[in-house]
Amino acid sequence: MDELPQDKPFKPPYPTPLKKSDKRSWFNLYKRGRKSWIHTMYEGSYRNKLSVIKLPGFKLFMPKRPEDVSKVLGGDYKDFPKSELVHNALKPLLGESIFTTNGEKWERQRRMMDPAFANAGLKKVFPLMLDAVRDQLERLRQHPEEEEIRMDAEMTHVTADIIMRTILSKPIKDREALEVFHWFEDFQEKASRVNVLAAFKLPSWIIPWDYLRWKKRGKQIREVLGEVIRERYKEFTDKEGETEYGDILEVLMGVEDEETQTKFSEVELIDQVVMLFLAGHETSASALSWTFYILAHQPKLAGQLAAESVKTFESLDTVGFTQVHKLKRARDVFRETLRLYPPVAFFARVSSGEKKLSNREAPKGSAVMVSPWMVQRHRDLWEEPDTFKPERFAAGEARKCPGAYFPFSLGPRVCIGAAFAQQEALLIISSIVREFEFSPSETHEPDPASRITLRSLNGILLKMKKREVIPEVAGSEEVPVPEQTGKCPFS
Ligand code: HEM
Repeated sequence: MDELPQDKPFKPPYPTPLKKSDKRSWFNLYKRGRKSWIHTMYEGSYRNKLSVIKLPGFKLFMPKRPEDVSKVLGGDYKDFPKSELVHNALKPLLGESIFTTNGEKWERQRRMMDPAFANAGLKKVFPLMLDAVRDQLERLRQHPEEEEIRMDAEMTHVTADIIMRTILSKPIKDREALEVFHWFEDFQEKASRVNVLAAFKLPSWIIPWDYLRWKKRGKQIREVLGEVIRERYKEFTDKEGETEYGDILEVLMGVEDEETQTKFSEVELIDQVVMLFLAGHETSASALSWTFYILAHQPKLAGQLAAESVKTFESLDTVGFTQVHKLKRARDVFRETLRLYPPVAFFARVSSGEKKLSNREAPKGSAVMVSPWMVQRHRDLWEEPDTFKPERFAAGEARKCPGAYFPFSLGPRVCIGAAFAQQEALLIISSIVREFEFSPSETHEPDPASRITLRSLNGILLKMKKREVIPEVAGSEEVPVPEQTGKCPFS
């Protein structure tokens, strides 16, 4: 019997959009932009098909029409390569990694990295993922119930641990790994400041303390991870590829590109590994922190997920790779969280020719910013766009307009780690929610901001206690699926 009261409709926080009447001034915009660009958006931007923003020396196009999104990221992706802005902000750390390269260089890297993230590759690293989740649960068990918990810090820890174990077979509890992890945090903070300056065409060195720290941290991380990779590379070569780590680095060292008959060099491996660490933990940590924040406000739903979890697998010692895919209700909750809080809230591209977006010419060299944050909250594309409603996925609302939902991007440059991220997220959500209950802090409201990822500026603080009862509900089967009406409004 399910005794929990019905959850109330929930609109999680987001920066109030500006109104037309709000005065626009460069200083005001810069001030708000320093907090985050989503703070500079007007209500009208969540309603129109295209925003064109004049910045010093260039125009920035932000398409909202799903058709334009699909064009920029999908069919015409070669005409909209990745912007130098992001590349430059990340270069001291990532070098020439798959995340920022374009053209043939990117194509080769993608061909070579795909196998590590295909189903077989994920199956291989699944036990390493489980080890990290087990350790996470143990950390939560040690947390005193009377103290509120920083859920964002916990999620950063577990996702960073998963990445270190699955890529390099190194748990984050190793002192060295922990230090690198703090350097990453520092690098990201400085990189996002450098990015804001670059968007305003200002040189990065005008704030020298940020500039020097940004360069130094990038170098430090590369040196430490470089040493680990060099050792592994030597061992791999000495043993003629017969090592048995079962991690992603091993796959990347062994792969040979069919077209160019080349392998990754040592420097290329460092670029890719550092990039995977950055792309693979911050994003997942962001999505998971928001998920637990929302679940703290939806106790009935959290109970349903707990019930689904115990129904699906007995324990982390016996859970199988494919069982995780059966957690349908948890998957919809995660998807809906990614709609409201897409961890990568914008993708920076550049127009490489005279390109049309919503019947407007985007001249060569224009910045094009495609934003799941804006499109996934668009007033004409979604019913009650700011309300958390996971049942919209079962109802097919998200499939109504191809190009309206894309937290992992879409097209050829779609996130290589999307399946990896879903696997770890479902594992983490389902194993935590069956053991613990969360409720909102009375003194704390998160403040979402889009930096490199979408995080809460003041963290995510929750109350947590041991779950006493698993409600007897049938999980996903009990959820009413609303009838789907209408078609994509912009098509
Ligand atoms: C919830 C978690 C995640 C989200 C929302 C996410 C989102 C994204 C998005 C939106 C992009 C495209 C960015 C752009 O085009 O500018 C991307 C690219 C990428 N992601 Fe993820 N990601 C997640 C987790 C991961 C994980 C776990 C990994 C690896 C372990 C990963 C590796 C990558 C890589 C390598 C790329 C570059 C792909 C390319 O350009 O070919 N991501 N991700």
